[in-house]
Formats: sequence, structure tokens, C-alpha cells
Amino acid sequence: MTRFSSPHPDTPSGLFIRTFGCQMNEYDSERMEGILLTDGYESVESAEDAKIIIINTCSVREKPEEKTYSEIGRYRDLKEKHPDLIIIVAGCVAQQNAAVIIERFPIVDAVVGTHHVGEISNIVAQIRKGHGPIIADDFSDECRIDPFPRRRGLISAFVTITQGCNNFCSYCIVPFVRGRESSRNAGEIIRDVEELGAGGTVEITLLGQNVNSYRDPKRGMDFPELLEHVADVPGVRRLRFTTSHPKDLSDRLVDAYRTIPALCSHIHLPLQSGSSRVLAAMNRKYSKEEYLEKIDALRSVRSDLAVTTDIIVGFPGETSTDFEETLYVMERVRFDGAYSFKYSSRPLTKASTLKDTVDDEEKSRRLTILQELQKEHTLCTNRLHVNTIKEVLATGTSRRDPDVITGRSVHNKVVNFTGRYEDIGSLIPVKIIEARNNSLLGEAIHNYSIRSM
Ligand code: 5AD
Ligand code: SF4
Repeated sequence: MTRFSSPHPDTPSGLFIRTFGCQMNEYDSERMEGILLTDGYESVESAEDAKIIIINTCSVREKPEEKTYSEIGRYRDLKEKHPDLIIIVAGCVAQQNAAVIIERFPIVDAVVGTHHVGEISNIVAQIRKGHGPIIADDFSDECRIDPFPRRRGLISAFVTITQGCNNFCSYCIVPFVRGRESSRNAGEIIRDVEELGAGGTVEITLLGQNVNSYRDPKRGMDFPELLEHVADVPGVRRLRFTTSHPKDLSDRLVDAYRTIPALCSHIHLPLQSGSSRVLAAMNRKYSKEEYLEKIDALRSVRSDLAVTTDIIVGFPGETSTDFEETLYVMERVRFDGAYSFKYSSRPLTKASTLKDTVDDEEKSRRLTILQELQKEHTLCTNRLHVNTIKEVLATGTSRRDPDVITGRSVHNKVVNFTGRYEDIGSLIPVKIIEARNNSLLGEAIHNYSIRSM
């Protein structure tokens, strides 16, 4: 994603943000960055050059939560050297453990919970006046996703449409750290998208913990209708959304893949487990059969739809037969990609009261089997694209080779290709010549008409 450029390039005050976790956190980081750039700060690549360090944290599993604490500790020496350095901890761990963070890390000037991201400017001003340490961790039910400060020059951008989650999957801490679900006004969302479209953004990704349950608080517009409106905004050539919950994937949303050409041929649809028994214990509210029916329905309207997913292994009570069922669903769907995790007990959740019956060694064994299978499937799905011409949104140059242009296909595959620097920011026809494990290689065909793809 392209970075913001500072409106005050001469201001020496550096801002360094370290982001852990999901796209919601990335969005919140971008939002804090946007606000502070408007205040005259300037993004820097290294913490050593910063006047403000923000650590935006994730607590969805135990590992990333632990990472937060070691990350905060890393800045002790810097703070000793520069006592005026401002250190802020934001995000889900901040929401969950504000008091603990302040007590354990005296170097922290403020803990900013998930509902206070939009107040970052004021919080920094308070710290500057010497009012630290600050804790902003109360929750409110109203939607606190304020419009973004002006974002310019993004080729692809997230737009948040819902905050929080009401689903209470039994393993998940999100409803406790991000609060109840609420939807943003459709008018505000459309205005955000219009501004992005006018500024050259080609691809919009609508973001929420469960986007399918979006409902405009004023006019009652639902998610499929919102998609239609967003797709109509001038400049928007590609539309994506994440994350959807299978239980709320309606027939009308399936139909949107038939009627909205800008909707990219990709869906991220977390499976979590292929065993209906485990799904019930997870409080997911769908069975293995219902999940498969949804996939079939989607593929009946978009035969080339790429599907990615999230899977947890070793949920309390998961037997080897349950695990086999997950592998069965993987074989049946052949996901284009999967994020897979060992179950990790989280405070406050219903599952934390269950006995963790699968030991760590067995969880690791299952995870390895699953990941090996997924690797095969990912490569197979990637190979299907070889010798075809795909429309790629060029977003930059490859990190490994600055002469190679990189971007994503409508199927959300990373495509590295030989092209021109001027291609960046545009939709480019690319002939795919090789499939790798996690990307495709190709060459731009500049005289090819995208309309004929
Ligand atoms: N343990 C393991 N994985 C989890 N996830 C959420 N909570 C847990 C947990 N307690 C995974 C789910 C979710 C993804 C974002 O993280 O698969 O979809
Ligand atoms: Fe967590 Fe379930 Fe909500 Fe996703 S839908 S954020 S897994 S509670």
C-alpha cells in the first residue's frame, strides 16, 4: 500500500508505527498515521528517528500478544536516551490489558483502546502537556469509525464499514476487545470511497469483522446493496471485502458475484473446522454441509472464484476424526490459500473454560499435515493461471528486484511481472508464464485490450 506524504515536509518530528495482527489493525494504523501527518508529523522507517512510536497490538492468539510485550521492551533504551520520546500502545492488547501495560512498562505514555483511535491527536497533545500516562480504554456502542483524514495517492485502499463483532465464536477474543458490532452510515462510506476514487484509488476493500451483517443505521441498506453503490462510484474498478461469515452469506450476496462485474473473483470465507461437531462447539452456526453448499452456490455464479480461508487445529475436543473431516473439506474445496493456526486459549472466551484436550505436539502435527496439503493446493490453483492473460493491478516494484513490477490479479494472487514503472497504479494485462508456491510470474502485454479479458 502506498504511504501518505506529509503535508509539512520540513517538520522534523518523526512518527514510527509498528502494526501487528489483522487488516483492521492496519486500517487503524493508517488512520492514526493520517491524523498525525495532518498535525505535521512525518512517517519514518526506523524507530531511532521517531519522536512518536505507536505499537498497534493484536491479542487474537497468545503468540502475538507475547510479541507485544517484547516489542514494548525493545524501546526502553531509546526512551532512556530521549526522554521526550512518546511511546503509545494501541489496539487489542491495549484494550484488554491497559492497566497491566502501564504498570509493567513505565516508558509507555498512553494506552489507546480500539474505540479511541480517532482521538490520537488529542492524546498526543495531552502527553505533550505532561498529562501522562493516559489510559483511553472505555467502550461505547456507537460507531466510532470517523471519516478518514484525506488520503491521496493510494492505489488500493481499505474502507471500514463495521466495527466490533456480535458473533462470540467460542474461541475468539475479538468481541471483548473490539466491542459490539455497529455499522457506519452508508452515506459516509460512499463519501470516503468517492474521495478515494477521485484521488486515483482503483481498488477498494470493504472491511469489517463480519461485513455480511452490515446494515446502514439510517436507511437499513444491507451489504449486497452497499456493494452495488460502492461499485458505481467513479474510479472504482475493483471491489473486494473481508471478512465474511459463512452463516450470513445470503443468496443476494452470492448473486452480487453475478451482477457486479467490479467484484473481484475472490472470497475469504473462514472455515475454522470441517467437523460439524467442532463447528457447533465453536458456536459458528453452520455445518460442514452448509459451508460446502455456500461454496457451490458461489462457484455456480463465478466458476473461477478463488477461495481463501482460516482454519484452527486442536480446538478443545477435536478428535483425529474431526481433523480428518477438515482435511476432507480442504480436498473438496481446494482453497487457493489458508491461514492456519493452533488453537490458543484466550481469556474471557467461552472455550477458555473447556479443557485443552489436544496437546501441543499433536496440534503441531495436525498443523504440519494441514499446511503441507494446503501448499499442494495453493500451487495447483496457481498453476491453473499459467498460459492465461490476467488483469493485474500494479501496486509497486518487487522487494527482491526493483526492476520487477508487482501487483495482484482479481483472484488476489501476487503477480510479479516484467513491465514498465509507468504501469504502477494501473490495471495491466499480464501473460502468466510460471506458477510459484506463493506467487505467479508473468510479462505485461501492453498492446492487449483489458476489455477483451
Ligand atoms: N486460537 C487460534 N486461532 C484463533 N483465531 C481466532 N481466535 C483464535 C484462537 N483463540 C483465528 C481464526 C480467525 C483468525 C483471524 O484467527 O481462524 O478467523
Ligand atoms: Fe471472532 Fe467469530 Fe467475530 Fe470472527 S466472527 S471476529 S472469529 S467472534
